[in-house]
Amino acid sequence: MPESELKVGHFDSHDHSQEEHPQLSIEKVDIQVRNLIEAILTNRTDFLGNGLTAEVYIPEESEKICFKICCYREVLGKNPPKSSIRTTTTFEPSHPKYGYHSPDTEGTFLQELHTLSKEVDIPNPCCWAIYKQTDDGDTYSTKELIYVLAMERLDAVSIKDVIEKRAVLPTTFNFETFFKKLRVFISKMHEKGIYHRDLHEGNIMIDDNGNPCVIDFGKAARGFGDDVYDIDYREGGQLRKGKLTSDEEYVNQVERLLIKHMTKDTTV
Ligand SMILES: Nc1ncnc2c1ncn2[C@@H]1O[C@H](COP(=O)(O)OP(=O)(O)O)[C@@H](O)[C@H]1O
Ligand SMILES: [Mg+2]
Repeated sequence: MPESELKVGHFDSHDHSQEEHPQLSIEKVDIQVRNLIEAILTNRTDFLGNGLTAEVYIPEESEKICFKICCYREVLGKNPPKSSIRTTTTFEPSHPKYGYHSPDTEGTFLQELHTLSKEVDIPNPCCWAIYKQTDDGDTYSTKELIYVLAMERLDAVSIKDVIEKRAVLPTTFNFETFFKKLRVFISKMHEKGIYHRDLHEGNIMIDDNGNPCVIDFGKAARGFGDDVYDIDYREGGQLRKGKLTSDEEYVNQVERLLIKHMTKDTTV
């Protein structure tokens, strides 16, 4: 018989009303997460978006919340039973290059940053859950791990969606103001000792007022200075040293991509 374990936790909201930033009561989280997992498996819930590690869903109960889910499955041995869980990532959570934070760590970054700036929106986190299931048979063993982060759903479109023409730029969008606000936010965040480390066009969004939103702190790190971008990772059995793209360089790249997209668009 498979054994399962579910851990859940809450992020306290200090300065926002319940209404503005919906919270789930801790008693309800357990059942909500189980329902959600069931709903995802049977496609009964609305899909919002995905990246390299996660899928993000809107629960039936509230459009103001979304759930970021990372499902990881490890199979050892022969003839394992079919999975009841759809895998969203092949990256091990502990992988030094691609590994992602547990949802409580990711949510803690959101909690610390969502009040940092009035001009750049960061989703307010609600709660997290970690669901583990292990099944040891005679010839196999399977390990399944689901990370869930429930957070405020932003009414925004990602720059990636705009560039790939799944969304249009809000009419309020002003190029210079947008990137100025984003750069001010990044330097404030760095002064606080937090580095995003994955600030590509899929993780920067634009809200209805044309303001920047930053999401996905799954690779964020604490520290000061350029060393925070250093990583050690394994490739072909060899330990290698590498450097992640800096937050500033990512913003420069995103800016160039958007200029290219906008100039192409106006000349068509
Ligand atoms: N709080 C949110 N509000 C609205 N959309 C979101 C939110 N979080 C994620 N998304 C959508 O889901 C996508 C994937 O989420 P993300 O956290 O970037 O996952 P990954 O770690 O796999 O890149 C995003 O690109 C965005 O479109
Ligand atoms: Mg992402």
